[in-house]
Amino acid sequence: MAGSTWGTILTMTTWGESHGSGLGVTVDGCPAGLLLCEDDIQRYLDRRRPGQSRFTTARQEKDRVELLSGVFEGRTTGTPVSMIVRNTDQRSHDYSAIMDVYRPGHADYTFDEKYGFRDYRGGGRSSGRETIGRVAAGAVAAKLLAELGVTVTAYTRRIGPVAVSEERFDLAQASENRLCMPDAEAAAEAEKYLDGMMAAGDSAGGVVECVILGMPAGVGEPVFEKLDARLAHAVMSIGAVKGVEIGDGFAAAQSTGSENNDGFRSGKAGPDGASEEMRGASRQVHKTSNHAGGVLGGISDGDAIILRAAFKPTPSIARPQQTVDRSGRDTEIAVRGRHDPVVVPRAVVVVEAMAAFTVADMMLVNLSSRLDNIKRVYGR
Ligand SMILES: Cc1cc2nc3c(=O)[nH]c(=O)nc-3n(C[C@H](O)[C@H](O)[C@H](O)COP(=O)(O)O)c2cc1C
Repeated sequence: MAGSTWGTILTMTTWGESHGSGLGVTVDGCPAGLLLCEDDIQRYLDRRRPGQSRFTTARQEKDRVELLSGVFEGRTTGTPVSMIVRNTDQRSHDYSAIMDVYRPGHADYTFDEKYGFRDYRGGGRSSGRETIGRVAAGAVAAKLLAELGVTVTAYTRRIGPVAVSEERFDLAQASENRLCMPDAEAAAEAEKYLDGMMAAGDSAGGVVECVILGMPAGVGEPVFEKLDARLAHAVMSIGAVKGVEIGDGFAAAQSTGSENNDGFRSGKAGPDGASEEMRGASRQVHKTSNHAGGVLGGISDGDAIILRAAFKPTPSIARPQQTVDRSGRDTEIAVRGRHDPVVVPRAVVVVEAMAAFTVADMMLVNLSSRLDNIKRVYGR
């Protein structure tokens, strides 16, 4: 199976299936000397673990990570960092009903068409558990970014029709409720909505928003490796993501040039400045707004990077649906077993991980873009 590696200098190769022995990742290209321990990784994995609320699959997995290589005396050695999470609650028989029948909205049909054979136990590589490797790799990237003064924070913006209100936005709330919504009132409303979905044997979609702060200006490679293009690719590769926006995204299509352009001013942003001072810029400049979402010409402008990912409703639902079996006969399917009525709360940390990893990689790639930087490294 090609396509399991992401990154240019900092790379992750994920492996493993939902119901195999385990899942994991090898992170290569991480600079030596970074403080790293299993707890750093575990904290991230705990945020995507199933069985923590009635809105996540009841599958009971501890998802304990083992750090197998690349760390000595608490620091990365510059060699590949390998991590494994063993599956302990496979219960494959729950999934026997989907062995020969395609779940609408899932990847069963396309995997069969592509390979002529598929691991039907819980979706194999197309399962949400595939994201374990991404999250473990993202935790390493976040540690690296912390050294560089960059933070990556994601939260739930919307579940079904319930969106976080701008007036009530309170980031601290996102870690207080199970839906990761930075708005307690919206979270309570979304819970009611999800209860209704579950009672109806249905599921919901939503939006994850991710904010990257402390990003220096100048990161991103024109033309095919633009920072926004890399971020979109990274986030779109997460299962169930059907759209990615940077900055105002699709809303920019309805704007005008005079509204959408972010003006430049010299000096630091004043108290009314909508936008932060642009970090790492050689001149002291700030923008008067941030419709661009921190990226101009595929290069970070030193402002906050803002991206949003639209997740479709969980495909596996209890309500009967039309489908066909492997021999092409029409039939119906009602998916039993353990599935999230919405994937968004568990996908928040996955978006954060993919964004962190991509930004860290692009920062490393950027190191060779100026001769004066290279000379500095080599003392010439
Ligand atoms: C964290 C996470 C958890 C998921 N959990 C489920 C699930 O319980 N049931 C399900 O049918 N799909 C789940 N999905 C979505 C499927 O993996 C995804 O829809 C499927 O692979 C088809 O890919 P596509 O939606 O990108 O076309 C999950 C996705 C993520 C990111």
